[in-house]
Order: sequence, then structure tokens, then C-alpha cells
Amino acid sequence: MIKVLIGDSSERIRENLKRRLDAETAVGVCALVGGGEEAVQESLRVRPDVAVVDSALPGLDGLQVTEMLAQFAPGTGVILTALESENDLMRRAMLAGAREVLQKPFSGDELVSAIQRVHDFQERKRKSGAATTQAATGNGNGRGGGDHGPQGILVTVLAGKGGIGKSVVATSLATALAQRGESRVALVDLSLQFGDVAALLDVTQPRTIADLAAHNAVADADVVADVLSSTATGLHVLPAPASPELADYVTTQHLRVLLDELRRSHEIVVADTNTQLSEVTLEAVESSERIVLLTDYSVTGVKNTRLVMSVLGVLKVPDDKVMLVANNRDARTENSLARTQAESFLGSKIALEIPFDPAVVGAAVSRGAPVTTTAPDSTVSAAIKQLAGLIAHNSPQAPAGVAAAAAPAPAAKRQRRILGFAR
Ligand SMILES: Nc1ncnc2c1ncn2[C@@H]1O[C@H](COP(=O)(O)OP(=O)(O)OP(=O)(O)O)[C@@H](O)[C@H]1O
Ligand SMILES: [Mg+2]
Repeated sequence: MIKVLIGDSSERIRENLKRRLDAETAVGVCALVGGGEEAVQESLRVRPDVAVVDSALPGLDGLQVTEMLAQFAPGTGVILTALESENDLMRRAMLAGAREVLQKPFSGDELVSAIQRVHDFQERKRKSGAATTQAATGNGNGRGGGDHGPQGILVTVLAGKGGIGKSVVATSLATALAQRGESRVALVDLSLQFGDVAALLDVTQPRTIADLAAHNAVADADVVADVLSSTATGLHVLPAPASPELADYVTTQHLRVLLDELRRSHEIVVADTNTQLSEVTLEAVESSERIVLLTDYSVTGVKNTRLVMSVLGVLKVPDDKVMLVANNRDARTENSLARTQAESFLGSKIALEIPFDPAVVGAAVSRGAPVTTTAPDSTVSAAIKQLAGLIAHNSPQAPAGVAAAAAPAPAAKRQRRILGFAR
């Protein structure tokens, strides 16, 4: 029997919720309260498994109640209810330590499933023990980490053209960073519709970024640790949804909370993206400490790279955050530019070139393993490790090779370029 406390200032709502939950044999309502102080007192007295508290409770409000329960009754999982999508509620709820947020009006079935999920989660947490949680997340308090801000850096791998090697580079870069053994590293697949990260690393995690979003689960340290898979090199991976239509569940608000949480529990978070500059990609770009912008040397590739640089300019992304990396340069291809031509067209130095080696990269892709483990002595691996070294060591203020950044184009011209770029 799951013991549930209900806190809402409206007696009618309290009674309705109780009536609905009484119909469930697995759930028992153990307390009904109308105010914040009462919610805390009763929770400490009856120790419910789940507390359903409204954000607008009188006295202590729902967020304050959540915070106190997270601190003093960690065995109680909190579901916060709110009348409408209050500004930034998800983030504040996460910081307070809530497990889920339910937006009013919600159905009885939605409430029952949320209670079940929170209870299951609390059970898993109890079983796995605090020590495991601490090891997996590096977060001593294990509850949202609300007492300290994100410490890690986000490195987004971006390109203006599909098939240029974003996923190959993101997976092998993240692996190389993990292999250095200096930091906890996470890789998140933001190519939400057709993400390849899970396939490239042979990860079979059934739960993905969409599960966090679809259930409106608040992405705190425990929840995120629960959906991350570990690879043999110790890299933590959050795959893209298993099927394309699930991508829509992931909003920029979810992403913001998720990326903050990942950066609280990892020193380096690498994000793979898709080529469309979707809202989700832009969210990642704007909160990145580093952007690895991949280009090839084809005329169309370099043209698109310049368009992406224009967009980054409009977004006010400082030039020194952007590291230009050339990949997939097939020297045999006609019409491809020389490196110096590409650099002069882009107005920026290429920090690093990753050699084109279809045999080595193709073998890694078909084995579902990163090139740094399948062919550690190859020139491709050497370049990826060099890139990892630049990311790990160079401060964001002084990245290598991007000194000669493009002079910003006039605003109107840049806007036009963006319109041209939007797809
Ligand atoms: N350095 C390289 N040498 C040889 N082949 C490469 C190299 N980098 C990537 N490739 C090949 O290019 C193909 C596309 O790579 P990848 O899937 O990483 O591109 P992407 O930019 O992520 O594509 P999408 O836009 O579809 O997400 C892969 O099959 C890989 O084998
Ligand atoms: Mg890809």
C-alpha cells in the first residue's frame, strides 16, 4: 500500500483527489491538509511514501514544503501540483527536490500513474542505497543538488551540414575525454529524431531523454543517474528517443533543467546535435561553454559553416567559445577547397583536422564502438585525442586556433542570412 498525503487549500479538490485514490487498492490516503506548515508536520508524523502538494498552499508554499521534505523526510517523494505552467516552475521544483510536476487540471489516472512512478523510484533508490547514488552522480546530497550550481562544461558538437561526422566525433570525443580518466564525462544525444549515439556506442538503455520529458519527471540527480548508461570506458550516455515522434516531448525547458543537472554531476558534458538549428539545438548552443563546429572543405559545406557562424554571431556566442574542426575531408573529391581557402572564406582558423579514413571509421561504426578503442593507434584517434586535450585543458577564454575570428557582419545582413538558413 502506497501511503499518500494530499495538500491543497481547496477542500473540494482534497476530497475529489481522495475519492479517486480510494478507488485504488494499491494506494491509501493517510493525510489531507490545507496549509503548508500542516503538510510538513503531518509528513513528519505519518511519513507518507508520496506527498502530493499544491504550489499555492497558504503559509509555506508548495516549493517550500518540497524543500523541507527533501531535507527532513527524504523517504517521501514529492509531486508538486500547479494551476498553470508557472514561469520556470520545473526548474524551481527540481531545485526544491520534487520528483514530478502535475499541471492542473489533471486526470485521476495521471495522478495515479505519477504516484506509482514516484513510489517505484523511491523504492529503487532505497534499494540501490545512498552510496551508489553518490558514486554515480558525484552529488553528496543526492537530491537535486540545489545547494550548488552547475560546475561542469557543456561542449556542443555542431555542423551546418548533415552526414559530416557530428555523431562520430561526439561519441569518440566523449569517449576520449572519459579515457583520460580526469573527469566524469556524459554524452547526450540531442539529435532527437534520428539520434545515432546509442547505435555508435552499442548502448541498449531502454530509457531515454524522452522518458524524462514524457513523464514530466523533474530531472534531479537521482532521476538523471537512473537513465544514464555507462560504457566500458566509464562514459555516461543519455540516448535519443527510440522513435522519432517521441522527440516532440522534449521541450527547451526540459532540456535546460537536464543540462544543468548533467553539469552538476559531470565535469564535461558533450552534446551531439542534428543539422537543423531547432529550438533544442539553439538552447544547447546558448548554454554551451564550448562549441565544436565541424566543417568539411566542400564548397557547400564551407558555405553552410559560414551560415552557422553568422547564426552564432546573432546569438551573441563569443567567438572564443567556437572551435572550428575539419572532418570528413575526402582529398579526392573535386571542387573541394584548400584549407587556407576555407579559413579565409570563414575568417577563422581551423583548430584541428581529423583525417579522412573510411576504413578505420567505417570499422568502428559497424562495430558499434568509438574509434579511440577500435583503432587507438590510428591517425583519426590521434586527432580525436588531441581535440579532447584541447577541450580538457584550454580555458574557455583561450581556445587554440580561433584567434582570427570573423569580423561580425552587419546586423541586417546577418538576419537575412538566418532567414536563408532556416529550414
Ligand atoms: N574522419 C572520417 N573519415 C572517414 N569517414 C568518416 C569520418 N567521419 C565520419 N565519417 C563517416 O561519415 C558518416 C557520417 O557520420 P556521422 O553519422 O557521424 O555524421 P552526422 O554529421 O552525425 O550525420 P547526421 O547529420 O545524419 O546526424 C559515417 O558513416 C562515418 O563512417
Ligand atoms: Mg548524427
